[in-house]
This record gives sequence, structure tokens and C-alpha cells, in this order.
Amino acid sequence: MTEKLMKGAVADMTRAIGGTPIVRLNRVAEDVTSEIYVKVEYMNPAGSMKDRVGLNLIRDAEERGMLGPGGTIVEATSGNTGAGLAMVAAIRGYKCIFVMPDKMSAEKVDALRAYGAKVVICPTAVEPSDPRSYYSTARRIVEETPGAFYANQYHNPANPESHFLSTGPEIWEQTQGDFDVFVAGMGTGGTLSGCGRYFKEKNPDVQLVGVDPIGSLYYEYVKTGRLTKAFSYYVEGIGEDFLPSTMNLDILDDVVQVDDKECFMMNRELVRREGIFCGGSCGAAVVGAIKYARTLKEPKKILVLLPDSAQKYLSKIFNDDWMRSNGFLDEDAVEGTVAHLLKARGGEVITAPSSSTVRDAIGVMKSHSISQLPILDERGRHCGMVAELDLLNVLMENEGGLDTKLSELADGNYATVTPGTRIALLKNIFSDTKAVLVTEGDELRGVLTKIDLIDYLASEKT
Ligand SMILES: Cc1ncc(COP(=O)(O)O)c(C=O)c1O
Repeated sequence: MTEKLMKGAVADMTRAIGGTPIVRLNRVAEDVTSEIYVKVEYMNPAGSMKDRVGLNLIRDAEERGMLGPGGTIVEATSGNTGAGLAMVAAIRGYKCIFVMPDKMSAEKVDALRAYGAKVVICPTAVEPSDPRSYYSTARRIVEETPGAFYANQYHNPANPESHFLSTGPEIWEQTQGDFDVFVAGMGTGGTLSGCGRYFKEKNPDVQLVGVDPIGSLYYEYVKTGRLTKAFSYYVEGIGEDFLPSTMNLDILDDVVQVDDKECFMMNRELVRREGIFCGGSCGAAVVGAIKYARTLKEPKKILVLLPDSAQKYLSKIFNDDWMRSNGFLDEDAVEGTVAHLLKARGGEVITAPSSSTVRDAIGVMKSHSISQLPILDERGRHCGMVAELDLLNVLMENEGGLDTKLSELADGNYATVTPGTRIALLKNIFSDTKAVLVTEGDELRGVLTKIDLIDYLASEKT
């Protein structure tokens, strides 16, 4: 084919990736003094910022000789990376096999099939190491398929590199660096680590803020260094139940936690009141940015990355029946939240400093008749929890047990929620973990155990 192109044309769809607009939010963030701007990535040709990732993963694999003519690209994807890869594969003649968790929307699955990809669906509610998990299934397919290339966005440096080479410089050029804070959802970490590295190299004062859904383990890990129990949630594309090597947590300045309901309500607002036809994790990112803005002493310019399109969630977030049947449209939602449970139960939050000992903890737990004790670090922020069993273990195994510092004992066998978390979700969380910490920003609001939930539900029924 001739190399010469008609004026105004590009050679193929990969040349149409990028160049997405940055738009000011005018209505949904009216009550914060900071200016919030959004980078609208659904304007990419396959519908998300992962087009940039798909292109770079394939370019890198070709250059390293891992992918050649007739090859098959295999990937574990929540849909967007798959679409990016599938579009580039369609242009270059590769086959694709994608493994997806079962919670992903039908629109995403259909889009991948439309590009000619094969899609294998796996259960969400299993550990990453389980042979049925979508990570394990992808690995097995790679082993069984001749000429397969495993794109492996969770551990492939070409993922964050795509944002370092494409999204980051594009944003810098568009804005001339005229922003103070960059906010993005935390999935593989490609966006935050890649853009973040670029921005920090340009201006170390740019603040990087990650947004993590309740149920994921990032938030608690960043705040306390503990790997707690992950549990399932509905928002797609962000949050993890393991630590991908593509996520560089060291460059983050802060992490904000959001719950499904606030993500989805904001997503609908962004479409209805700003005309931005974006998807669920965009609602999450904007809610996270607003929460962060509320913590600032003076107004800042905040730039938020919006990964994908509402098109992919029409049957869910934009469908009232789906929203209602999952409890996201309850008018009396306050009645069904953790805040309501805490209020109904009453009582103060009992804590212990991490420098105190097992002896101190036994005293506190006995005098307040409690079985779990959250621990606070020297700055007064929660940094873990000890339970009766932890104390028992240390006394049985260790002669000087009574003098052991609580900081040595705190374990990760708890989950973290916010006051806005729905009680319906709490029931699932307790099947995996023995206690739940309720936090709001850095503040500890309470501790809940199964008996609190049982009491609450029993009193509702009488
Ligand atoms: C819809 C959506 N939002 C956010 C993310 C998170 O981006 P990253 O993987 O770069 O952390 C993803 C990743 O798949 C996504 O699909």
C-alpha cells in the first residue's frame, strides 16, 4: 500500500489514540473551592485509556520478539485493556483470548467478541491463587496455546510505561504543568505509576492521589502497611485483592476510599449534569477528588483521569432496575448503612497505642468487655488491630508474652469500610473476616464484629 496519505487522514486507528480533551467540572463539584478538571479518556478509539496500554504492550512484545505473525495475545482483563489489545490485534492480524471476571458488564464482553476475540469468563469470588481465578486461567491458556503472548498488564512494565510515554506527556503538554494534584483510580497502577513518574520528574510538588474502592486492599495497605482481607464490590476496573508489581505505591501522596454507591451516583451525575458520558470508575475518581479537595486548606487545581465510557455500563449503572435491585437507589439508604448501625449500637471507640503491651491490652479489653482492639500509631492514626486470639497465641508461645508490644502483634485479619457502606455488603464481608474497622479519611469511627450485626438485624425484626 502507498505510504502517501490523503490530507487529514491517519494510517490506521492506532494513530487516533490520544489527544483526548481536558474539561472543567462545572456543576457536580460546586461545593468545593478547588477547581476540578477531568481528562476524558473515553474519546479514545476503543473507548478507554487502555488503548494506549494495548498499543504499548503489543509494540513492546513485537520489539522483544515475544509476539510475531499469526501470534495469539492472551490477557486477564476487566475489559478495557482487552478492547485496546483487540483493536490493535485486529489491525495487525493477531488472535486474542481474554479471560474476564464474571462481574464485568455484558457490554464489555460483547465489545471484545465484536473485535473477533475469544472470551473466557471466570468466577470473581475465588482467591487469585485458585486455579479457577482469572489470573490462573490466563496463565494456563498461555501454556496450552502455541505462539501465545501473555500481555500480563499486572506485572508488565510496558503497562505503566504506556502512561509514562503517552498519557503523562500529553497531559503535561496540554496543561503546561498548570495543575497541583493528579487523581486516578487504582487498578493495575499503570496510570498512577506511569503518569505519576512523569509528573514527579517534571515537578516533584505535584501531588498524586489514588482512589480505591471499599473491598480492595490498597487503602489499608498504604495507610497501615497491612494486607487485609479483600471482599467483592461492584465498581469495575479499580481495586485489587493482591499487589501488582505495576503499582508503585511509593510515589503516591495519598489514597482516598470510596464506596460503590457514591461512585455510581456520581457517575450518573457526571453524565446528566456535565454531559460527560463516562463510566463507573470515573464516578469513583471524581468522588475521590472531591473528598480529597475537602481536606485541603487552600484551593488547588485538581486534574482527574476518567478512564472509560458510560456505553459499557448502560445495563448496570444507568439501568434503574439493576441499581435498585442492588440497593443503590434506596431512598432511605441511611437506614441501611454502617453509620446507622454504629449509631444504633452506640458506645465510644476504644483503642490502644501501638507502643503499649499485651498486658495493657488485656486490661483494656477486660474492662470494656471487647474482643478486638484497634491500635493507633504515634500520630494517632489506626495501624492495625489485635484480637483475643492474637493475645492468647503470644501468651502460649512466648515467656515474656505480657510485655510484647502491640505493634508486633497487629494482624491483617480485618476489613475496612466507611460509614456510608451498606449493611447488605457487611453480611458478605463477615463471611471472610472476623472484624470490620469503620474509617473516614484518617479518622477511626468504630469497630464492628459479627455480634453487632446480629444484634442490629435482630432489633430490626422485632
Ligand atoms: C474502567 C477502569 N478504570 C480504572 C482502571 C485502573 O487503571 P490502572 O489499571 O491504570 O490502575 C481500569 C483498569 O483496568 C479500568 O478498566
